[in-house]
Amino acid sequence: MNSTAETTLTPPHANTPEMGELSPYQAGPVLTQATLAHNGIALEWLDGQKTTLPLLWLRDHCACPACRHPQTRERLYLPLEPITEPPSVALLDGHLHLQWQDGHVSAFHSGWLYQRRPEAELTSAVPNAKPWVDNFTPEHISHSDFLTPLGEKAWLTAMLRDGLALITDGPLVEEEVSRLAERIGPLRATNFGARFDVRSKPNPNNAAYTAVGLPLHIDLPNWRQPPDIQLLYCLQNGASGGESLFADGARVVEALRQESPEALTILSETPIDFRFQDETHDISMRAPVITLDSAGNLVEMRLNNWIRDALHLPVEQMDAWYSAYALLWKLFHSEAHQLEFTLRPGQMVAFDNRRVLHGRREFDPNSGARHLQGTYLDRDMLASRLRVLARNV
Ligand SMILES: [Fe+2]
Repeated sequence: MNSTAETTLTPPHANTPEMGELSPYQAGPVLTQATLAHNGIALEWLDGQKTTLPLLWLRDHCACPACRHPQTRERLYLPLEPITEPPSVALLDGHLHLQWQDGHVSAFHSGWLYQRRPEAELTSAVPNAKPWVDNFTPEHISHSDFLTPLGEKAWLTAMLRDGLALITDGPLVEEEVSRLAERIGPLRATNFGARFDVRSKPNPNNAAYTAVGLPLHIDLPNWRQPPDIQLLYCLQNGASGGESLFADGARVVEALRQESPEALTILSETPIDFRFQDETHDISMRAPVITLDSAGNLVEMRLNNWIRDALHLPVEQMDAWYSAYALLWKLFHSEAHQLEFTLRPGQMVAFDNRRVLHGRREFDPNSGARHLQGTYLDRDMLASRLRVLARNV
């Protein structure tokens, strides 16, 4: 084989460590220095970046087939013993090779170490949630684009960032919502089934199956884990009325913090009860209306007035809770925070059910047919798809 062919084919080289990692890391700079320091191995890369990694960290991250399962890529090594004797250190083709005192050899790709140096910002293909701003316009992605990796990536990114996105120009066929959802992950089933129809029906067991207007709400706050992502596919919308309404919990919680930090404290620190009951189910959960993380960011909303159960609180807390709840309700339903549009046949709206509240205006069931099909997905599956697509796109 001549040298030109070798360069073009870049055959796997004996000195190029394989890290058992599917996200790309091979493009990082090579190491120019690796020396034993008192607190670990001091490293320097070609671009001047430096770090020192503790010996136990390096031993723990050994990617050899004995330390990391070659098929599952899962960790086999258990770091229970401190490393007392330093290894011998070598750089081969710019990658780090260590031989430990017991004879075990660990090899680390320079690009893999570069990504994982403690000084590097954690990067992710998955965007952080970004609260809506004035005149927020959701991303529209055509059905045919969604079927391509780039279109799917755009939809997933918008969903995880904005908590709401539309697919347009889809076919008017039953179950299309299930086919689209199954590209992302398994359907999340609830007591209403894995796939549900939204249209007025006789003897409804839920407000969604009537023609009345639905104020903003999340679905199933009476579950310990309400569904993450809701998908609603419009097959018919000829009835007058029935416009879709949405409001971003991440934005409204910020507005509440500005207007009344006390109300935010009450709603985020007072668990209340939610409950659904019919002939075969009685599903209930006690949790606050707003859950925040330690930084004050919204983790989840639980707001659904028709399945809020009896308020069980100390008497002296009740009036303050009701007034905080009323303030939040008014903020959600103020025009400034509401997004309103008519879902057209062939359009699918998807939203983060635990962040973005949804509702609809009343419709006249005698003026035409209205038929939506819906299902739910886990947010983990959206993030997973995005990471997989980011490997190649
Ligand atoms: Fe709903």
